[in-house]
Amino acid sequence: MTLTAYNGVPVPSFMYGTAWKKDATKQLVELAVASGFRAIDTANQLIHYNEALVGEAVRGLTQKGFKREEFFLQSKFTSVDGQGGRAPYDPSADFTTQVNQSFDSSLAHLGAGYLDSYVVHGPQSRRGLNEADWEIWTAMEDLYHSGKTKTIGISNITAGQLTLLCEQASVKPMAVQNRCFAALGWDKAVREICHTHHLIYQGFSLLTANRDVLADPQIHAIAQRHGAGPAQIVFRFAMQIGMLPLTGTTSEKHMREDLQAEQLELSTDDIRQIETIAL
Ligand SMILES: NC(=O)c1ccc[n+]([C@@H]2O[C@H](COP(=O)([O-])OP(=O)(O)OC[C@H]3O[C@@H](n4cnc5c(N)ncnc54)[C@H](OP(=O)(O)O)[C@@H]3O)[C@@H](O)[C@H]2O)c1
Repeated sequence: MTLTAYNGVPVPSFMYGTAWKKDATKQLVELAVASGFRAIDTANQLIHYNEALVGEAVRGLTQKGFKREEFFLQSKFTSVDGQGGRAPYDPSADFTTQVNQSFDSSLAHLGAGYLDSYVVHGPQSRRGLNEADWEIWTAMEDLYHSGKTKTIGISNITAGQLTLLCEQASVKPMAVQNRCFAALGWDKAVREICHTHHLIYQGFSLLTANRDVLADPQIHAIAQRHGAGPAQIVFRFAMQIGMLPLTGTTSEKHMREDLQAEQLELSTDDIRQIETIAL
């Protein structure tokens, strides 16, 4: 299945996340693609991701006959604070230069001429958006206008910050990537803004941030009715309420199970139960 960003760019409806895969990154990306994933999420942030190994996997797959256009490659600009002292750009440079250097380094890692999505890993400020955030976003807009990335996005953002960005940016983000807590109504406030502005909401840590939900008897009852597992129910729920989920699985079996969630059809009652399960 495919979603469409508000600028018309098609986006696969399920994304494989490569955080914390370390040396297994290449092999797991190959496995994810063999299992059916076409969208890969990474970041130019060595402490959590190995973007160069994602690139090795993609290069190998293109040598085996895959075309670059068959993949949706998403990477991120991570600020100096999140780089653990190993920034892939000159940390003393201005923010515009940092974004451009990090982006070029991502293209080199991935062996790609363009990205499908480039995402700011998170605003610099906890509340509101400061001058640095606006400079970074302007650099993102310039990358978008240059055609080097087909869409731009923002991650780890609050509802208040996203409202500001949507109201004041020249180019609104096409995607928002947030950790999705069931206890916050599955990030309801941010999802509602995404809905209003036609942004794609990417939910991450749907399983790891919601372990209580996965263990909940209501989820198990729904899963049993659909002949599925609790993780599949959470992923299908996410899709049916309009989210693009990420999975970070390291298991081939779970990769296939997670993708099979697309075949399920939850009822309105199931959805209502899951929406309020942790409230
Ligand atoms: N923007 C950000 O700041 C940010 C932060 C964190 C993550 N992310 C992105 O989001 C991606 C996903 O995050 P995550 O790893 O927290 O996601 P997740 O999918 O919620 O968690 C992965 C965990 O769920 C398990 N799992 C997956 N499918 C399963 C299934 N069908 N049955 C049982 N267990 C299953 C995995 O175990 P197995 O390995 O055994 O399957 C693994 O322990 C990351 O890789 C990264 O790309 C972004």
